[in-house]
Amino acid sequence: MAAQSRVSSRGRHLATKMPTFFHVLKDQWNPESNPQGIVNIGLAENTLMQEEMKAFINSHLSVESHALTYGDGFSGSIKLKKALCHFLNHHFRPHTTLVPSHMVVTAGASNAIECCAWSLCDPDDYVLIGRPYWTTFRTMLGNRASVNVLEIQFEGLDPFSLEAVECFKEAYKRATEEGKIVKAILLCSPNNPLGRCYPQEVLCSYMRLCNDLDIHLVSDELYALSVWENLELENPIPFKSALCFEAKNLMNPEKLHVIWGMSKDFGATGLRIGCLISQSNKQFLDACESISLFSFPSSLADNTVAELLADDSFTEHFISLNRARLSDNYRHITGLLKERGIPYSQSNAALFVWVHLGAVTRNRAATDGDILECLHREKVYVTSGLTYASEEPGWFRIVIAHPKHVLEEGFKRIVRAIA
Ligand SMILES: Cc1ncc(COP(=O)(O)O)c(C=O)c1O
Repeated sequence: MAAQSRVSSRGRHLATKMPTFFHVLKDQWNPESNPQGIVNIGLAENTLMQEEMKAFINSHLSVESHALTYGDGFSGSIKLKKALCHFLNHHFRPHTTLVPSHMVVTAGASNAIECCAWSLCDPDDYVLIGRPYWTTFRTMLGNRASVNVLEIQFEGLDPFSLEAVECFKEAYKRATEEGKIVKAILLCSPNNPLGRCYPQEVLCSYMRLCNDLDIHLVSDELYALSVWENLELENPIPFKSALCFEAKNLMNPEKLHVIWGMSKDFGATGLRIGCLISQSNKQFLDACESISLFSFPSSLADNTVAELLADDSFTEHFISLNRARLSDNYRHITGLLKERGIPYSQSNAALFVWVHLGAVTRNRAATDGDILECLHREKVYVTSGLTYASEEPGWFRIVIAHPKHVLEEGFKRIVRAIA
């Protein structure tokens, strides 16, 4: 049978869109069981808190009859929504207290982002995102819902500045002149890959701009609580949720949406628990709920996370220990970078340090692709600025949220790759 008749043309297209890191997962380095494997300090996962998380889950997993049914519907149990409200009201300090009717629970943040594509946009519409950015947003918005990303260039301006907001305005104007339909700005706050938070006045400025342009603001706050102490920064910017502001003073509250989940702040990408919050747009949440059958988390994850988020002493301890470990690791890895004279950009949030390997490669003409090839040969997985549509070549993202022996092995291999 001819190869192209095995699947539809849509199927063929999807088959070309496989994530590029699956080979890493199949061959992960372990000093004892797989010393020849790939050291993975590229994928955005946090393994620093696994012992604490496993201990909690293993002592709290319990199954009731409710868990063997469709439960309270497909968008999260009432128990989980109440626990999320309890937790986020404390940690995000929203201006309007969160209640369960303000949210849908999703299978991870990815699914929440796709819900925005399905229900805020039509096929071929555009969402504006500033560079560098986590380009998997393209997959989430585009693969199934056919929504495009319009990348915003800053040409040397600080992406966290008020001037950067102006670049969005200009890009919007140009796009509409070209006949493109722009429906939203997507902010990643704190930012992946740069590991920084947006100042309060900049967040307000994005909200005002969305009001002026009558578009949505989607704030992906998946790394909200992974903000750590960086003693090298004189005035570190703390995280502030877009929910903290009285939305109606800045924009149409119907157009403000926030995403959070368990994947990063609780080091639990495998649980697949995310949430999409929209405090004034019931129709949007109804639209999301109507498609929730296709991807909602297992009741086992739902129930465990509900128990966890309601347990204040566990969450307080977990979050502060996570922050302390991230801070310690940041100090450790930047110490190694300094010893080798590798430039890096300061960060105090998320799981990353953004390093300029291009500035120190022996072959100064090496492209990002060349450097990636050397890293690949040394069996260390880090992602290059190409993955983030970086405007400047030579930058790479290192994930710092792994035990020190993993970081050290990874760093050794990076040094060999660029020497
Ligand atoms: C900014 C951002 N949003 C969403 C996701 C997807 O998270 P999840 O595993 O919860 O789907 C990631 C994962 O790296 C991310 O970095």
